[in-house]
Amino acid sequence: MNHLNLKFSRRNFLKITALASLFASISSHYIFTSPAVRKELDSMEEWSSNHLFLQGINAPVFKEVDVNNLKITGEIPSDLSGIYMRNSPNPFLKPSTYNYPLEGDGMIHAVYFKDGKVSYQNRWILTDSLLQDMKGEKPIFPEFNMRNYANTNVISCGDNILALFEAGLPYKITPELETLGEYNFGGKVQEAMTAHPRFDPKTGELHFFRYSFIALPYLIYYVANSQGKIVKEVPIELPEPALLHDSIITENYLIFFHCPLVFDIMKAFLGGIPLVWKPDQGTKISLMNRHQGKEINFWLKTESFWMWHFMNAFEDNNQVIIDFAHYPTLILDDNIASVLSNKSSFRRIIDDRMVDFPIFDQRKTGQPYRFGYMPHVDLELIASKGIPNYFPELIQYDLVNKTSKVHRFKPGNYCGEATFVPRKGGESESDGYVMTFVSNEDKGTSDLVIIDAANFEEEPLAKIHLPVRVPTGFHGNWIST
Ligand SMILES: [Fe+2]
Repeated sequence: MNHLNLKFSRRNFLKITALASLFASISSHYIFTSPAVRKELDSMEEWSSNHLFLQGINAPVFKEVDVNNLKITGEIPSDLSGIYMRNSPNPFLKPSTYNYPLEGDGMIHAVYFKDGKVSYQNRWILTDSLLQDMKGEKPIFPEFNMRNYANTNVISCGDNILALFEAGLPYKITPELETLGEYNFGGKVQEAMTAHPRFDPKTGELHFFRYSFIALPYLIYYVANSQGKIVKEVPIELPEPALLHDSIITENYLIFFHCPLVFDIMKAFLGGIPLVWKPDQGTKISLMNRHQGKEINFWLKTESFWMWHFMNAFEDNNQVIIDFAHYPTLILDDNIASVLSNKSSFRRIIDDRMVDFPIFDQRKTGQPYRFGYMPHVDLELIASKGIPNYFPELIQYDLVNKTSKVHRFKPGNYCGEATFVPRKGGESESDGYVMTFVSNEDKGTSDLVIIDAANFEEEPLAKIHLPVRVPTGFHGNWIST
């Protein structure tokens, strides 16, 4: 994670991202009550793979399950009423090639809190491409097959719950995880939507974008109001196309980082990941006035670095403070040496621990804030096991006092991205709950662990025991009910 003060004065996935700009996407809408489809999914043949992102704690699960009245250690806070949903790539068919983190059919894992009882469900998102796979249909030109995996994030937006994937439109799902089809904001968003939109807590607006490697404009910025209606669409001309995984807002600015991971059209047609790391080009940081919203107002070229995720950003007198997970370089190859070479860290406070998946109290988006959370990536463990994604502890950063606390899970237990849920009626950033899935590698089971943000190093308030394993995954959110 890094911190900047600015003074004013996925091989096929990425190919698909590029090619999605060349072909108009056809939005189809299905409504699945689908017992037949679900039955077919349930009877699928299990497979194993020696791909490092499909082994051990990363291996997909093959059953959709429903478990009610889950066993709990500790006590569920009485004000928790809602659903924790998390998305993840969970390939249905054994892939012949697999480019993590950019491929794999999306699966949602959901934990429901209602009337003091807790239940769990997991469901594949029934995307067009997954349905084709289930039917055994092969695209005529597989190299040009545009797959929308819907595997990266899941949010609530107005009355909708959306599974997000940056190279395609969101898939709308129900609270019970049935797939309703692609969602295009009433026809206003045509091609794709970032998997990392940002809610402005002051206005209720959702700020997001879509990028393209080929179609002009390379970037379009959208704002949806609190009812989910698009109220702003701003085409933005960039000097060159860029892969933009995330953006962040402050009270007055929209911020993008253009990192030197450059699209290479020849590589796109020859196969492989069509992206080249060109550190000589440096990383460019752009600020655009949200309220004028017509062009980039400020560019800063810095030394090259990569970032997937912002934590937050805010304005402080004549400065913009931006917090993010900072990678000095990025290599997107599926071998453990590349995984170990991609080292990210947070430097807002002096800290060299490798971290990513930053979260914070979203009521503070774009504003000064105190607490942020990230899992610590254990590189030694990853090197010894030869498998990525071991997160044995969660870090709570106090960005005001420049300290941190660690919640370490018991040996053999590994967490993922966390989410912060404010206590009902609570206003302080420490008055709430930090929850994350924690998996036991040996038992093949998982817990949803709820930690008191104000007593972060103490025993969790509750562990909700799932009799199944939740594989490592990407992003999730709390949906209040
Ligand atoms: Fe992400």
